[in-house]
Amino acid sequence: MKIVHAASELFPYVKTGGLADVVSALGGALADRGHEVSIFLPGYRAALDHRDAAGATSKLHLKIELGDQFASGEIKAFSPRKNLTVYLVCREEFFDRLAPYGNRERDFEDNAERFIFFCKAVTETLRLLDIQADIVHAHDWQAGLLPLMLRDAERRHGVTLALKTVFTIHNIAYQGLFPAAKFALTNLPDELYQIDGIEYYSQISLLKGGILFADRVTTVSPRYAQEIQTPEFGCGMDGVVQTRLEDLSGILNGVDNSIWNPAIDVHLPARYTAADLSGKAACRAELLKRFDFDAKFKGPIFGMVCRFAEQKGIDLLLANRDFFLHEDVRLVVLGSGSKRLEDEVRGLVARAPQKIALSAKLDEAASHLIEAGSDFFVMPSLFEPCGLNQMYSQVYGTLPVVSRVGGLVDTVIDADANPTAGTGLMCAPTVEGLGDALARAVKLFVDKPRYAAAQQRAMARDFSWKQASLGYETLYSDAL
Ligand code: ADP
Ligand code: GLC
Repeated sequence: MKIVHAASELFPYVKTGGLADVVSALGGALADRGHEVSIFLPGYRAALDHRDAAGATSKLHLKIELGDQFASGEIKAFSPRKNLTVYLVCREEFFDRLAPYGNRERDFEDNAERFIFFCKAVTETLRLLDIQADIVHAHDWQAGLLPLMLRDAERRHGVTLALKTVFTIHNIAYQGLFPAAKFALTNLPDELYQIDGIEYYSQISLLKGGILFADRVTTVSPRYAQEIQTPEFGCGMDGVVQTRLEDLSGILNGVDNSIWNPAIDVHLPARYTAADLSGKAACRAELLKRFDFDAKFKGPIFGMVCRFAEQKGIDLLLANRDFFLHEDVRLVVLGSGSKRLEDEVRGLVARAPQKIALSAKLDEAASHLIEAGSDFFVMPSLFEPCGLNQMYSQVYGTLPVVSRVGGLVDTVIDADANPTAGTGLMCAPTVEGLGDALARAVKLFVDKPRYAAAQQRAMARDFSWKQASLGYETLYSDAL
């Protein structure tokens, strides 16, 4: 099949969260299975500067209609592996920035312009390069208008640009909401500014465009596919989702085991497998050293790596500060995002710097070391479409402590509720729930045979992309 993806993040070129890992691993897995895969990404500075892009060739110069103006752009392409082409949608004014969506205080003012431009540029490229896609697969609100733009362009030009379109919701909380006045930038027919178009409570929602106009809609775990149909998790889009139930499915993300694999991980001081965990002990020692903790500490180390966003349950962690202050445990947090959450975690660190540490930045290498060197990985999310870190931690023999929501339910088994199959601990997404799970973690840790058995089971789980990419392949074939 000829499969075209469009997304705003792609590992290793630009990443703020799991979207980057997923698009990269899925695109790669489909390419390895012999499909002809293209991935469109905005031409951010970081992507253009990456060594893979050094040999990128210019494919097209574009003039894109944005309301009553035209914006120029350029398409550059390179091929990082067999069967895979990355297309960078370049326009310095929009994408030559340090971060993809905004600075930490707020989103960029021109995000509507930027991502409407992106969707239009992808559409134009498919037309002018005559790519003849079987499937165009758009991810999240930044690419949400693509299914609609494609059909609009096909109608105007009398051509077929994609046989079928797929839209994946990685997080329904991010809806690409903009003032109604931005609708003009789309140059779509007026009737699309309506309740059964992209109008959403007197604004426009680019996410809604993806949900309503793609041939198939997916999300990143079966559980989340159910949850987003409810007011509790639908973030106001549950009604829109309900109109697409026949075409909605949840396909669980996987783990890219060429990157997240303790046996070959280049970021670790030592590598290890389930059969020989001595390298994990070396990672633990390095973690203690890196964060200036007592090297002789023998108790449990809790690790956390996440975007600092309310979704991730950092408030629940903070409300359990007494646990981390008074128990004989260590806590390492790596995160960036909300300044409030960062300041509050920093405040906690100040009370016990010998036990609690924070690294407030994006640090790919440190994220691997924390996964490998910790005994427990804490992920008390309030909601979680899929979540990757709880899978990574199991692969690294680090037991996840997670809340019972979304993809966490589909990927973790509680070791107390299910002593013969458990791979982690699960709790209600509440202060008390997390407190109880943390106390159970300490009990599990001191029961060495029980901890070791859960660890072996966790490491034996198969989260590889083989399963997930087959899921998408079947979905594409069905749609076609
Ligand atoms: P989300 O996409 O909601 O942020 P996921 O669990 O799906 O959550 O994916 C998060 C990804 O981002 C993981 O690969 C994680 O290691 C990475 N990550 C999050 N915060 C950081 C950070 N501060 N430094 C490095 N990697 C991070
Ligand atoms: C989103 C979700 C996360 C998911 C990731 C990749 O960022 O918050 O749960 O794992 O997308 O699909």
